[in-house]
Amino acid sequence: MMDLSKIKTIGNIGAGTMGHAIALQFAMHGYNVNVLDTSQKALEVGQRHIKSDIETFTNAGILSESAEQILNRLSFTTDYKTALANADFVIESVVEKMSVKKIVWQEAEKYVADNTILATNTSGLSPSEIQTVLKKPDRFVVAHFWNPAQLMPLVEVVPGHKTSQSTIDTTVHLMNHIDKHAVALNKESLGFVGNRIQLAVLREAFHIVDEGIASPEAVDDIIKYSLGRRWSLVGPIASADLGGLDVFSNISSYLYADLSSEQGTDPTLNKMVSENKLGLKTGSGFFTWDGDAGKNIVKERDESLLKLLKADLEK
Ligand SMILES: NC(=O)c1ccc[n+]([C@@H]2O[C@H](COP(=O)([O-])OP(=O)(O)OC[C@H]3O[C@@H](n4cnc5c(N)ncnc54)[C@H](O)[C@@H]3O)[C@@H](O)[C@H]2O)c1
Repeated sequence: MMDLSKIKTIGNIGAGTMGHAIALQFAMHGYNVNVLDTSQKALEVGQRHIKSDIETFTNAGILSESAEQILNRLSFTTDYKTALANADFVIESVVEKMSVKKIVWQEAEKYVADNTILATNTSGLSPSEIQTVLKKPDRFVVAHFWNPAQLMPLVEVVPGHKTSQSTIDTTVHLMNHIDKHAVALNKESLGFVGNRIQLAVLREAFHIVDEGIASPEAVDDIIKYSLGRRWSLVGPIASADLGGLDVFSNISSYLYADLSSEQGTDPTLNKMVSENKLGLKTGSGFFTWDGDAGKNIVKERDESLLKLLKADLEK
C-alpha cells in the first residue's frame, strides 16, 4: 500500500454535482486540489457550489478552519497538464458515458506520474472496460461516492480485473482519511452493491404499486418507519441474524417465488416516462410536485444528513 503521507495533491476531474463536493471533501482535509473541467463556466458553477457547501458547514459548526483557508487549497483549470502533472491521486466525475470516460482517462494518463492512483466515480460502468485504455491499469479503481457527496458517508471501492491490491488498500485508506466510510468489494459487478440492492427494492416497490397492493405513499411510509430506520443502524444481513435465520429461511420458501422477477426495463417506469412523468423535474411522477414541495423535502433531508454527519464527526 502507498504511504498516505505521500499523497498531497488531488487531481479532480469534473466540477458538477459530484465533482465539486468531492473536491471540497479533499480540501477540507488539507489536500491541495486541482479541479479540471471543460469550460470556465463549468468551473465557476462548481466554485459557487463549493462556496455554498462551505457556508452550510460553517453555519453547522463543522469546520475547524476558515472558508478562506479551505478555498486557498483549491485551484481551477481547463488544462489537463496543470491539473494532473503534480497529482498523487486523481478522481474523475464526468458524464456517465463509457466513450467519454475512456477518452478522459486516456488523456489523463499522459500527464500523471507512474505511481499516481486513478479513480473513477462511475455509478456502475465497468472498471475493467475503462482499464483497457490505460497503459498502467493496475493503479485504476472505482471510488463510488453517493449523492450528496458532501453529506453521504459511503464510498464503494471497486476493483477492475487488473486493479492491484495496493491500489484498493490505498484508496480505502485515503477515503477513510477524508472522513468517508469506504467499503471495498471483492470484485466488480453491475451496479456494484448499493445500486443492486436499491434496484432490487425498487423493482418490488413498483410491482407492489402496480398490483394495487399499496399506494406509493404507503410503500414509502412502510420503508421509512421500519426497514429504513433499522438498516441505518443494523444492516439487513445482521438484522436477519438477529431475527433468526430459520425464520427468514421459512419466509423465503413461500415469498421468493412471489416477488417480481422482471427482467427488462421496468414496465411501470416505462409507462411513466412515456407520459413525461419524470418526477420532480416535470412536476409529477408517483407524486405531484407543486411549487417548492420538492425543494423543501431535499432541504429537510440535507439538514437531517448534516446532523448525522456532525454526530459521526463528534464520535
Ligand atoms: N449525481 C449522482 O447522484 C451520482 C452519484 C454517484 C456517482 N455519480 C457519477 O458521477 C459522475 C458525474 O456525475 P454528476 O452527477 O456529477 O454529473 P454532472 O453533469 O453534474 O457533472 C459532470 C461534470 O463533468 C464535466 N465534464 C464533462 N466532460 C468532461 C471532460 N471531458 N473533462 C472534464 N470535465 C468534463 C461537465 O462539464 C460537468 O461539470 C458520473 O459518472 C455519475 O454516474 C453520480
